[in-house]
Amino acid sequence: MGHSEERSDGEPTVLLPRDSSRLLGMTEVQARRGLTSESPDPRRAAALPASVVPESGAQGARCLDPSPPAADDSAALPVHDPLETRQPQDALRWGAGQLRACGIASFARDARILLRQVLGCTEEALAGGAIAELTVPQVLAFRRLIARRRRGEPIAYICGKKAFMGLEFTVDRRVLIPRPETELLVEQALAFVSGDTQNLAGETGRRKGSDLLLADIGAGSGAIAIALAKQLPCARVYATDISADALAVARENCALHGVTERITLLRGSYLDALLEPAHVVVCNPPYIPTADIAGLARDVRDYEPHVALAGGEDGLEPYRALFAGLPAALLPGGAAFFEIGYDMAARLQRLAAVLLPGAVCEVFPDLAGFDRVLRIAQVAPNRAKPRGEERQTQPSPSER
Ligand SMILES: C[S@@+](CC[C@H](N)C(=O)[O-])C[C@H]1O[C@@H](n2cnc3c(N)ncnc32)[C@H](O)[C@@H]1O
Repeated sequence: MGHSEERSDGEPTVLLPRDSSRLLGMTEVQARRGLTSESPDPRRAAALPASVVPESGAQGARCLDPSPPAADDSAALPVHDPLETRQPQDALRWGAGQLRACGIASFARDARILLRQVLGCTEEALAGGAIAELTVPQVLAFRRLIARRRRGEPIAYICGKKAFMGLEFTVDRRVLIPRPETELLVEQALAFVSGDTQNLAGETGRRKGSDLLLADIGAGSGAIAIALAKQLPCARVYATDISADALAVARENCALHGVTERITLLRGSYLDALLEPAHVVVCNPPYIPTADIAGLARDVRDYEPHVALAGGEDGLEPYRALFAGLPAALLPGGAAFFEIGYDMAARLQRLAAVLLPGAVCEVFPDLAGFDRVLRIAQVAPNRAKPRGEERQTQPSPSER
């Protein structure tokens, strides 16, 4: 672990274990709340005191970028207006200074990403001096991007893309930016599918891989559904969301990754949208308690969709609806996987005991030991008909 590579969203990624927060100088409080992504994970950052949740993208340590944010070795050099000199180094110094002045901790890195975005070049080209001079339109475009970042807009929205599970996804303000910690949800679902093939086949009569059916509930950009479809080339996937805007982005991403034929997008509320029960249900629901929304970091509160964040009064409302629907949504031998808040496991297990008697819950911590994923298996079936037929937004493969 620990080698770096160029991420598809232009950010240099250093592959580190998910408990790398301590290595990177995060406080335990930050790590518990999953402050490991570009923006603090809103569903954990909500409870942080104002002194810990920074405004304007001043997030402090970042799991994927261990460079100390203050290590701007150009800081001591004079800052020239890039419009006058049009030199890349002047543009970088100017941009970094602008971002630092409004408290963005990752100012130097963000300035580089935004300049590369404008120039359409790699880090190697920028660092290696391949860019002699910016054009005037490039300087002006760079100024505009720096101004957006100064206002708190996340880098992923400005660049329009975000990496997840090694794939690049189109993102904009219609969808939540996929978070690195959500990759554990995908990994657990994949581990279950590969480890339980026999079980699934025996219980459901599934005889070949093409019968495997998965459902991503609250799909947003489609990152989870698409990552699963890419890893399981014979599977079909339902990707549902209540937001038509989110489904439009998911549709773009399905096309981008060539999985349109195997992913059926459905609009509707949680499991109600499904057309049939699935072997595996995966869900990263909104789970910020209502009272915590106002205290979110500006990047999240002002830019990411409210419907992707708000989990009702105690943050558990989506889980109540989801658990209640599982008996009709899961095939025998199947399992459901939920991303959860670090402090939710006990409450969710009690909820499952009431709503899903006899089901078996297992909590998977991340490598730092903080609860991240809840798996629910052995759910007693209820063969009530799924109710999603009228909300389908594109023909299912069987109808094409
Ligand atoms: C936390 S985001 C997760 C997005 C994406 N799966 C990811 O992990 O990046 C939650 C998603 O659930 C969707 N959502 C909110 N309420 C919903 C509901 N009642 N039914 C279905 N989806 C819902 C939101 O629109 C949003 O896309």
